[in-house]
This record gives sequence, structure tokens and C-alpha cells, in this order.
Amino acid sequence: MENIIIDALKCVGCGKCVKDCVAFALYLKDGKAKLREGCIECGHCYAICPAGAVDMPGYDKTGSVGVTPMTAVDSETLLQAIKSRRTVRQFLDVPVEPEKLEKILEAGRYAPTGANSQNVAYTVLADRQAEIERSCVKLFRTGAKAGALFSRTLRNAEIGDSFFFKGAPLVIVVSGHGSVNASLASAYMELTANSLGLGVLYSGFFCGCAALDPRIRSKLRLPKGHKAVTCMVIGYPDVEYRRIPPRKPLKLNVLSK
Ligand SMILES: Cc1cc2nc3c(=O)[nH]c(=O)nc-3n(C[C@H](O)[C@H](O)[C@H](O)COP(=O)(O)O)c2cc1C
Repeated sequence: MENIIIDALKCVGCGKCVKDCVAFALYLKDGKAKLREGCIECGHCYAICPAGAVDMPGYDKTGSVGVTPMTAVDSETLLQAIKSRRTVRQFLDVPVEPEKLEKILEAGRYAPTGANSQNVAYTVLADRQAEIERSCVKLFRTGAKAGALFSRTLRNAEIGDSFFFKGAPLVIVVSGHGSVNASLASAYMELTANSLGLGVLYSGFFCGCAALDPRIRSKLRLPKGHKAVTCMVIGYPDVEYRRIPPRKPLKLNVLSK
């Protein structure tokens, strides 16, 4: 089945879809939009068509009517909230509601991906979280001894039983073939989680363990060729921050002739 269908009866031949198609897969013929090979199914034609002439039959389009522009979110509030975001490492022993998890995953699903590959996967550790954390702690305690020779952080690190997941109720490993798509998805997910009152820790140490040890990788059952790009540790914060820590000056370079 074609994943993009243009209803010639509805098409008004405005050419908006042709102009907006990143893949040059649309053209006008006899006043109607036509599709040729090369479509990446990004849905811009579906989104832009004033006549509703484009359908994407292979996709679930629930909720696809009604656009909320980002301008609906006050930019001052958004920027202040971005600055106020903190990595959370102390969590309440309260589960994350399934509806909230669904929203967080939805934010990842709608993040941009290069060439619209949508090749990011989300692995919720769920019932195996404790077992996987135990394996990582074991590995890390051994590795940290050697690593301590080179790293002050590792020398100082206290590797307790909840070193990786901090007692949080939810852990999502975001994976991909490369890093960019999965990282962007993670950032969207983090902000959504924050807006739901949840805190997030990116456990880079966990991704390091997954990269180092094939036994941990195999426990994750990631899609073929995927690597764990981020490990998002999520839960209700048991910590409150009262001010925004300062940052280093912006490294800005404006090119001139
Ligand atoms: C890719 C990445 C990996 C990270 N890994 C860890 C980690 O393993 N453990 C940890 O406590 N914090 C980790 N962090 C959190 C950083 O330490 C934190 O973002 C930084 O200190 C700034 O603090 P803030 O996020 O509260 O602004 C990680 C952050 C990123 C972006």
C-alpha cells in the first residue's frame, strides 16, 4: 500500500506541497499534485494541504487535526523553565503514572529525525530494572578500581547499590544507530517529563557500562545495530533547587567577511 495518497478530486493544484517537499518527491501535472519515488513520508504534504487532499493510510492519525504552535507557550516562561531545569538525583518512592509515561514517549516520537528515519527506540527497563542495575554496579565497582588511576571522579565515587538509577521508578534507554536523533528525542522527553512534575537524570555511566559490556547490552535487547545513546532515569524529585546555577560565558562566534 502507498503510504502517501493524493486525492485528485480534492487537490486544488496550489503547489504548496510541492514547494515544501524536502525530498523533491512531488510535482504538479495538469494542475494536480503527483507523487514520484523518493518520498520520506515526513508528512509535510499532509500537514500543509489546504484541501485535505493528502492521506497517509499506513499511519495512525489520531490527534493529527488541530495544530498548537510553540508560540502558544510563552517564550519568557519557557526559557526561564529551561534554565531552571536541573538534573535530579534524588527521587521519591512514587511510581510514574502510565499516562505520564505515554506523554513522555510521545514527545520522543515526535522529535525530528534525520531524513525522517524515525529510527529511535525506547526501552523501558520495567521488571528488569533492579537486576540490570545490580549487574552494572558489579561491573562498575570492578572497573572503577582501574579507572581511579586516571579519574578523580572515579577515585571519589561512592558506588552504592542504587548508583545508576538512584531509586527512581522509571528508566528508559533511548537508542539509535547514531547519537543525534536519540539525543534530540531525549531532550524533548526530558522537557515533557519536567512539565509533568517529574525529574530526569541522564545516566551517562549506565550508557558507558552498556557500551563496555556485551552482557549488559544483551539484557537490554535493543534493536539490531542500536546503541544505548541515553539512559533516562525518571521520577518525582525529592529535592528542590532555589536558584539557577551560573554558566560559563556563551561560546559565540559570529563570522564576518
Ligand atoms: C550525556 C549526559 C550524561 C550524564 N551522565 C550523568 C551520570 O551518569 N550521573 C550523574 O549523576 N549525572 C549525569 N549527567 C548530568 C550532568 O552531570 C549535569 O547535566 C551537569 O552537571 C549540569 O547539571 P544540570 O543538568 O543540573 O544543569 C549527565 C548529563 C548528560 C547530558
